[in-house]
Amino acid sequence: MIFGRVKSLDAIMATAEKKGLHRTLGAFQLTMLGIGAVIGTGIFVLTSEAAQKAGPGMMLSFVVAGFVCAVAALCYSELASMVPVSGSAYTYTYAVMGELLAWMVGWALILEYAVGASAVAVGWSNYAVGLLRNGLGVDFPTIISNADGLNARMLLGFGAAPTPELLTAAQVGGIVNVPAVLIALLVTWLLVIGTTESARVNAVLVAVKIAALALFVALTIPVMKMENFQPFLPTGTTGVLGAAASIFFAYVGFDAVSTAAEETKNPQRNVPIGLIGSLLICTIFYLLVAAGATGAIGAQPQLGADGAVLAPGSAELAGRCAAVVAGGALEPLVCSKEALAHVLREIGWAKIGNLLGLAAFLALPSVVLMMMFGQTRVFFTMARDGLLPSRLASIHPRYRTPHVVTIVTGVAAAVAAALLPVGKLAEFSNSGTLFAFFMVAVAVMVLRKTDPGRRRPFRTPLVWIVAPLAMVGCVGLYLSLPLTAILVLPAWGAVGLLIYFGYSRRRSHVGRGLDTVPGE
Ligand code: ALA
Repeated sequence: MIFGRVKSLDAIMATAEKKGLHRTLGAFQLTMLGIGAVIGTGIFVLTSEAAQKAGPGMMLSFVVAGFVCAVAALCYSELASMVPVSGSAYTYTYAVMGELLAWMVGWALILEYAVGASAVAVGWSNYAVGLLRNGLGVDFPTIISNADGLNARMLLGFGAAPTPELLTAAQVGGIVNVPAVLIALLVTWLLVIGTTESARVNAVLVAVKIAALALFVALTIPVMKMENFQPFLPTGTTGVLGAAASIFFAYVGFDAVSTAAEETKNPQRNVPIGLIGSLLICTIFYLLVAAGATGAIGAQPQLGADGAVLAPGSAELAGRCAAVVAGGALEPLVCSKEALAHVLREIGWAKIGNLLGLAAFLALPSVVLMMMFGQTRVFFTMARDGLLPSRLASIHPRYRTPHVVTIVTGVAAAVAAALLPVGKLAEFSNSGTLFAFFMVAVAVMVLRKTDPGRRRPFRTPLVWIVAPLAMVGCVGLYLSLPLTAILVLPAWGAVGLLIYFGYSRRRSHVGRGLDTVPGE
């Protein structure tokens, strides 16, 4: 039963052909699209969390996470070039391993996209608050700029030991992240009225992000001090892998390229170039940025009273950081909520630091938009297959957008962004993404066996090595996540299974023998 109800590749292709989207994107635009979706909160904000987990060894974490994404991207490329339709990992799984697993992948993609959108919204909020304070001298009230205090109070309420760190966080931390809610709702509204980012706006924002990162590298590398890299691995290999599992978020989004395959000229050639090109460029930038940040101001983790590394994003670390700053010391990298701007301010480039903050302020909303858009696409494809209520995918009479699904997604993302720290959201998102990548690697191998004769415009090189490597990498990173994030996936999956067996299975178009788009 697990592998039952395969949607035939030919039916999927026929559906796509009927829709007749214009094929307008080339290799360059696709690479830009990939970079636009990838560079965001991960590098601008989570660098400090990676440093808290791995110290200077976070540079290795970027390599590990980048490597897992590269092998996964090679698998994506084969499927995306064979099946150039929207729906990404969900569609591939449907065609190869049947409906149940496809449902699970689609369900996991909600974690990737909707929770990922929340994480980026919180990252944006950090930069917005920092920019107001450092650029305009306006202190946005802490109580409504993060949820650190709320989380600390909840932990204390549930009986956590009242450490000095937790008590400080409960006292000085915020209750709700209002800027994150505002940006999530603003993006939702833009999507409802039909704003999909134009290629031109995307190109400008990509240029802004690349310029900001290039400037960061140019200013930090010359002032690097070798002693800032010592000790290089304060938390050992476990720390490096833990940081890789978090910073994996910085690479998420490249699969957006594959979802644009339906609109790509010569997808057989251009999709692989777009996927791998954008990943390569981002990896190079990330490595240089991590080296620059570490070398410029150091990246050693903060330890608790018992000498253990405090968990990034935890109320304890927030309390500890508040105490360090209140004591008059400079804020360490691992404490900063806007890591890259902070580094520049610390090394005497306050104005440029603010400019970098402005770049993040301007560019991160487009990543939120991308992720929410991806989410609506996946929901839409699932509804088109009958697995979700068609009402969810109803189109607004005036704006011609799927407003119901967009509003549901947007409100859920806003609530999560209001109450959770960025690192936790990113890790929850990663657990879903790693599952989807794992399934893509499985799908590419299964399809080589079950349909060897089908034309493969792009063949994953050394597939019997690359795909298993992607699988092992995904499992390895998943198991390196903190326990809460590890548990999110099965818990979320269990809810998904209830919905599938309670609702979707009976209504599925494939199950009912309607193997095409509704209404045809
Ligand atoms: N990779 C994207 C980011 O870092 C999701 O914001």
